[in-house]
Amino acid sequence: MSKVKIGIIGLGFMGTTHFRIYRDCVPNAQVIAVADIDPVKLTGNISAVKGNIGNDDNSIPLDFTNIKTYETGFDLIKNPEIDVVDICVPTPWHKDLILAALAAGKHVYAEKPLCRNLAQAEEIAAAVKASDKFFNVGMCVRAWPAYRHAYEGLTAGKYGKMRAANFHRISPNVDGNNWQNWYMTDELSGGALLDMHLHDSDAIRYFFGRPKAVTSVGLTGFVSKDAVDHVITTYHFDDDVLVSAEGTWGAAVNTPFEMTFQIWCEKATLKLSPEDYKIYWTDGTVETPKIDDQGLPTGWHQAIKYFIDCVKNGVKPDKYQDFDSVYDSFKIIMAEQESIDKNSRIEIKY
Ligand SMILES: NC(=O)c1ccc[n+]([C@@H]2O[C@H](COP(=O)([O-])OP(=O)(O)OC[C@H]3O[C@@H](n4cnc5c(N)ncnc54)[C@H](O)[C@@H]3O)[C@@H](O)[C@H]2O)c1
Repeated sequence: MSKVKIGIIGLGFMGTTHFRIYRDCVPNAQVIAVADIDPVKLTGNISAVKGNIGNDDNSIPLDFTNIKTYETGFDLIKNPEIDVVDICVPTPWHKDLILAALAAGKHVYAEKPLCRNLAQAEEIAAAVKASDKFFNVGMCVRAWPAYRHAYEGLTAGKYGKMRAANFHRISPNVDGNNWQNWYMTDELSGGALLDMHLHDSDAIRYFFGRPKAVTSVGLTGFVSKDAVDHVITTYHFDDDVLVSAEGTWGAAVNTPFEMTFQIWCEKATLKLSPEDYKIYWTDGTVETPKIDDQGLPTGWHQAIKYFIDCVKNGVKPDKYQDFDSVYDSFKIIMAEQESIDKNSRIEIKY
């Protein structure tokens, strides 16, 4: 195989972000096809695209010279030259495209969340298990450099026993930032709960293992029409530890995006703030870890490049995820929604 040939479905915030990452940072990748329901975006004009992280200038059109364009993802999937289908459409449509792409014998990189509900997740699980192709969900926080550094130290036992942790993900209001404002409807996006807070819920599952239950409180419909816009969850583990996370997209539009954590362990406290990432050792020393991101500054860059290199080399990707842990995270976030709806602690059935 020369370059890995990619087809991207959905040219919104994530699809255009992935396009630039393949183009600028993944030498083994070549985007040969794109699909979007909006014909304007297929011309390369992405001026309508907005996001809540990053500084890409979307007034500059993307160059789709020599790239095939399709108005449906299902037509793109039929292109026999494509090795990897990259799915970046709104969440409810992930499932059908994942199933179609795997059935067509493609490797699949699908944006998070896995899908919109547990019934869809079950269908995807069956298709992934039946396929010999590689499948990755964009749980990018697992690959985000500071989070990765913390994960590696924690799982190696460097900081001693974890006592408590909290995670925050605070976004400016995303109302109007997206295609047909799909984020603002619970049926489509699952609100800030499924769309944003999922990252922290997933990080907690990834860092500390399976919680046995969750207790969540949420505010619904203060930014969106009817979705959970703000959530605070306590994750219950067998051990005597205290783990919580808070996520919202209800901050004023000019509020900077924030993703942070504090993890208190026997030997050190790990603190990612908007300004820096530091480790405060109980012996009084303060460490500012030097992280070599190798020119891949975000978890999106890291995870995408890793996946494409695995496809190129025929090596099953296992560094950032196995399907079961992604499926677990999905079950946890659905339990959080149930906890908000029922105003009670929910035991999680894995
Ligand atoms: N990993 C992350 O950090 C992260 C960040 C943001 C979004 N996401 C996820 O990425 C996915 C896309 O979100 P976004 O912010 O890019 O949305 P968006 O609204 O910016 O873009 C969606 C794009 O899909 C196109 N589209 C809609 N329906 C389509 C269809 N049936 N077929 C083809 N194209 C279609 C729209 O025209 C639009 O260009 C979502 O699942 C979202 O949760 C992940």
